[in-house]
Amino acid sequence: MKQTKTKILSPDAHGLREATDILRAGGLVSFPTETVYGLGADARDNVAVAKIYAAKGRPSFNPLIVHLADVSAVSQYVQMNDAAKRLADAFWPGALTLVLPVVPDGTISMLVTAGLGTLAVRVPDHPVATAVLAAFGGPVAAPSANPSGRISPTTAAHVLAGLDGRIDAVVDGGPCGVGVESTIVSCAGAPTLLRAGGIPIEALEACLGAPLLRDEDPDAPVSPGQLASHYAPNGLMRLNASYAEPHETLLGFGGVNADLNLSPSDDLTEAAANLFGMLHQLDALGAKYIAVSPIPAHGLGQAINDRLRRAAAPRD
Ligand code: TXA
Ligand code: MG
Repeated sequence: MKQTKTKILSPDAHGLREATDILRAGGLVSFPTETVYGLGADARDNVAVAKIYAAKGRPSFNPLIVHLADVSAVSQYVQMNDAAKRLADAFWPGALTLVLPVVPDGTISMLVTAGLGTLAVRVPDHPVATAVLAAFGGPVAAPSANPSGRISPTTAAHVLAGLDGRIDAVVDGGPCGVGVESTIVSCAGAPTLLRAGGIPIEALEACLGAPLLRDEDPDAPVSPGQLASHYAPNGLMRLNASYAEPHETLLGFGGVNADLNLSPSDDLTEAAANLFGMLHQLDALGAKYIAVSPIPAHGLGQAINDRLRRAAAPRD
């Protein structure tokens, strides 16, 4: 991917203005939270979110956590329930992420939810994170600000060591206090622990007055990394198709004559940004047989191909 000059911003009025300007323009800004540094982008902007995956070199589209400045904004994006409200009252702002049914108004990019019906949300407890989020005034998708497969950064220097030249800016707010990622609890069904983290499990269970289900429990939802049922279209998919048979709808890439084209100009960032939306469009078109052009296996192409393989996998 092309190199950019990564700015180091101070957490003062001037730095915060630059950070919000970059986010509004669809750029990437790393900022500190109490857990680890996040790599933020406007969660409503497909192309901005695609850039997160490109910068991290993430080989698959794992869903991302949406960060909000304050608790009152959360119900705009997810459907709260009693368990979630209890946990939110007790632990937000803080190192807890809640997974809840997403409000289906299409505001949040499908690259953030990975096409799942749920959304992970968190209200961080860090003055710089809060200042960035409040000044931006919208939902910010932010995974940890490290290249894929590397450890999470807890200082601005760690962020630069991994991502210098790949992101627009980092706001240097000093070292993170908690230093491990947030605890993730799904409240989409019976409250289930998806990832241990900054808030101890005992504290969560004491608040709920009941044990959390664990991922390994038979009735618990599977972690999205392993989830075969990320959104897949209704039609049967044939990958690496250089042309479409007469009965097939072509999801193209590059200079082909296609029914839908992920990126006529061979741009993998644009293709990633369009992917989930176009899979939905294929359903809207009633496509029963779908041929998909070959996607180059470098950069974001890895994540796109991973997602396409899952969507094309045999189903129950
Ligand atoms: O402390 C943290 O959580 C940091 C800071 C920046 O907030 N963020 C972070 O994000 O650790 P990330 O992307 O590195 O990890 C997010 C995890 C992933 O394992 C993802 O699978 C899970 O959250 N996740 C996100 N959305 C989900 C969803 N809808 N359902 C289940 N799991 C979800
Ligand atoms: Mg991470």
